[in-house]
Amino acid sequence: MKLAFVGGGNVASALISGISQSPLPPEFIHVSEPDEPARRRLEERFPVTGFASTLEAIATAHAIVLAVKPQVMPIVLDELAGNLEPGQLVISVAAGITLGQISGILGQQQPVVRCMPNTPALIGKGITGLHAGPGCTEHHRHFAQRVLGAAGATVWVDDEALMDVVTAVSGSGPAYFYYLVEALTEAGVAMGLPDEIAAKLALHTARGAGDMALQSELDIAALRRAVTTPGGTTEAALDEFSACGFKEMVQRAVRAATERGRHLSSNGG
Ligand SMILES: NC(=O)c1ccc[n+]([C@@H]2O[C@H](COP(=O)([O-])OP(=O)(O)OC[C@H]3O[C@@H](n4cnc5c(N)ncnc54)[C@H](OP(=O)(O)O)[C@@H]3O)[C@@H](O)[C@H]2O)c1
Repeated sequence: MKLAFVGGGNVASALISGISQSPLPPEFIHVSEPDEPARRRLEERFPVTGFASTLEAIATAHAIVLAVKPQVMPIVLDELAGNLEPGQLVISVAAGITLGQISGILGQQQPVVRCMPNTPALIGKGITGLHAGPGCTEHHRHFAQRVLGAAGATVWVDDEALMDVVTAVSGSGPAYFYYLVEALTEAGVAMGLPDEIAAKLALHTARGAGDMALQSELDIAALRRAVTTPGGTTEAALDEFSACGFKEMVQRAVRAATERGRHLSSNGG
């Protein structure tokens, strides 16, 4: 496998870090990055070759990961148009850039996979939603999954319209959990705990609950019930959540994020 990245920022670094340590590392990883010091830093950290020129970086690559900001995507796509091999797979991680926008510039036949990773990808604990365009073979899908799988878990989404929901659930999701940790910390402080202790309790509880749920054979609701003794402290708290319409609030939040994503996509970001 020969892999090229266009853009050598946060997401590219996370993916390169994971994939360069995978059991079958790529034959080469090329990175196109305009900033010279950034290129040098990448070459020092990872087994990659940096290029100032995108077209030099992508030559002979099997797959090209577009890891630039959405507003830079039109420039990069214009540069790639007419310079790709027919089977070269294009993997886009740019938020809100649709397959239609990419294929409109690169041509309908070019295999394209659109992805939505999230920030825990930076420590190898992300989750990425992937959507394959019509030009993709099973081989292309496998390839894309291998690249994004280097930064955590992956899920395939067949309907591209649902990528905005993926963004609303897991793309933006880390912020929701941070917000809950903030709220739990503030509640602990309001009830008398020192700031630092409340923050530590809340954050480690979030980590422990997440890790435990991932390792458990029980589903989330069963795990919740397991810590909810009838008439006990947890039930008292959950009854308050419920009375405040917690689930409805989360539904409204995810709907708002999905609609915002749709609006941004249709207005080109
Ligand atoms: N960060 C996340 O958690 C996350 C989650 C989901 C999706 N995404 C998507 O991932 C993409 C990359 O995000 P990021 O956080 O990695 O951004 P980033 O850190 O800003 O990385 C983008 C890199 O691309 C470089 N670049 C700019 N123009 C270029 C060009 N014409 N050719 C090649 N490289 C160029 C930038 O260099 P300069 O800095 O010198 O301009 C920068 O190093 C975005 O589209 C974003 O929507 C990110």
